[in-house]
Amino acid sequence: MMPGRGDFAFGRAFVESVGKEFELPYVISNVECITPLPWPATRSFERNGVKIVVYGIANPSLELVGCRVTDPGALLETVRADDTVVIVLSDLDKGRDADLAKRATGVDFMVRSDSIEGLVTPTPMANGGLILSSGSRGRQLGLLEVELTPGALGWRDEGEGAARASDVDAATAKLKELATRKAAATDTKSVERLTRQEEFWTKKQADARAALELATAAPGSKGRVRNELRGLGVDAGEHAPTLERVSAFKAANTGSAPSAAGAVSSPMGEGGVGVGPFAGSAACTACHAPQAKQWASTGHARAYAALVADQRQFDLDCFGCHVTGAKDANGPQDPRALHGLENVGCESCHGAGRDHAASPTTAHLVASPPTSQCVQCHDSRQDGGRFEEAAYRARVTH
Ligand code: HEC
Ligand code: HEC
Ligand code: HEC
Ligand code: HEC
Repeated sequence: MMPGRGDFAFGRAFVESVGKEFELPYVISNVECITPLPWPATRSFERNGVKIVVYGIANPSLELVGCRVTDPGALLETVRADDTVVIVLSDLDKGRDADLAKRATGVDFMVRSDSIEGLVTPTPMANGGLILSSGSRGRQLGLLEVELTPGALGWRDEGEGAARASDVDAATAKLKELATRKAAATDTKSVERLTRQEEFWTKKQADARAALELATAAPGSKGRVRNELRGLGVDAGEHAPTLERVSAFKAANTGSAPSAAGAVSSPMGEGGVGVGPFAGSAACTACHAPQAKQWASTGHARAYAALVADQRQFDLDCFGCHVTGAKDANGPQDPRALHGLENVGCESCHGAGRDHAASPTTAHLVASPPTSQCVQCHDSRQDGGRFEEAAYRARVTH
């Protein structure tokens, strides 16, 4: 296991004590501290005579007092994997992941934490390794079966052939449909448009065929893997002792939820409301009473209560969209210290407003927030695709 940003948000002491209490096999490779972390930089073990080494790569944006995150690429460039399977647990975000995948030539499997979607078909790396992810929220368990072929280079995912074959089928079906429509078309404009689409799909078909060939060629030259994402729905059942521990943890750690000081009725500025450029919704009320009144009638004004009801207000996976400014590096980042920015407040849509509140006629805000602002949170994944621009906008317009 690799402790990531979501764990360290609760402080180093917390992560250390939980790791110790539950004997979690933590590994962290690229963090150097004045008082060293109590976990090894790598863990190795043997299975059926094969040596396996595990690295844990922290994100450079991880902030730990007295510690420094070193360049993970520099570390992994030196890794050689001749007779060893190298696994990297990564807390890097997407762009950095891809960059690392290019540099980490000795890595066999990179398991990443940031991806919302599980990767049923693992993403190949340039060196023949694979990137894996079982998605977020613990909804799926990723199972990778690995079969070593002596002397083989890189990995072949058994599911990949089927996935690429279905890409070829899809392109072929599309071309067939376009040909039928072209035959029936009467005006030259339509024919031209359909011809352009045909060219596009012909290229797609060729690319898919090439990928299929690559996935199925030279079976002896690669080790084989079989990747599976097992859904952990209610039917998966609970492990009673673990459930008990989780419930006890939630009861002990979510009981003292911060008050909803971001609510419009709170006195302005009390208890240090606001952080960085964010002033908090309470700072806007005095001058914009009608807008504040309408806002208070929307779900946005109660978004934090929804998390509390779920006992998930300290979950970094959740609070970004239910707390004002949490997606901004200068906004609240610690779920235990929200500075009165609970809920989807004024500044979630209009932008940080401390300067504006102090000097409204010189420092201006976005008067009509664009839909691109909404879909950062109404992202069609977390909200089950319910967002409908016109209907939703009408409900938040003051
Ligand atoms: C990407 C942004 C985002 C994240 C992350 C997020 N939410 Fe939400 N959440 C939303 C949006 C948007 C809605 C409103 C959906 C609607 O009504 O159309 C919502 C609604 C809700 C609701 C109330 C309505 C419902 O659908 O049940 C609850 C409860 C909730 N979220 C809990 C959570 C929990 C728990 C997490 C973490 C596991 C979480 N949210 C993470 C954006 C997010
Ligand atoms: C969910 C996003 C959202 C939130 C949260 C929000 N607003 Fe707005 N606000 C809008 C939109 C959209 C418009 C533009 C309406 C239009 O196009 O007519 C707007 C317009 C305004 C305007 C311009 C004048 C007007 O009423 O059209 C003011 C002032 C304003 N909002 C203040 C606030 C204040 C104060 C809060 C918090 C109490 C707030 N808004 C919260 C979306 C939001
Ligand atoms: C001291 C009074 C005052 C406070 C506090 C205040 N505003 Fe304003 N706001 C104004 C005035 C006055 C205008 C009109 C500015 C103009 O037309 O030059 C305005 C305009 C706006 C507009 C329209 C766009 C613009 O900048 O002209 C938005 C949106 C807005 N305010 C949101 C907010 C939000 C959000 C807050 C809280 C963070 C806030 N206001 C706090 C007085 C205030
Ligand atoms: C910072 C994240 C965030 C942003 C930005 C945001 N929303 Fe939301 N929105 C939420 C969350 C979270 C909820 C769920 C609140 C609840 O009921 O607990 C929600 C709920 C709503 C609802 C109520 C849905 C229902 O059925 O109760 C509407 C309507 C809505 N949002 C429209 C918008 C529009 C339009 C915009 C852009 C102008 C916008 N939102 C911007 C997070 C956001």
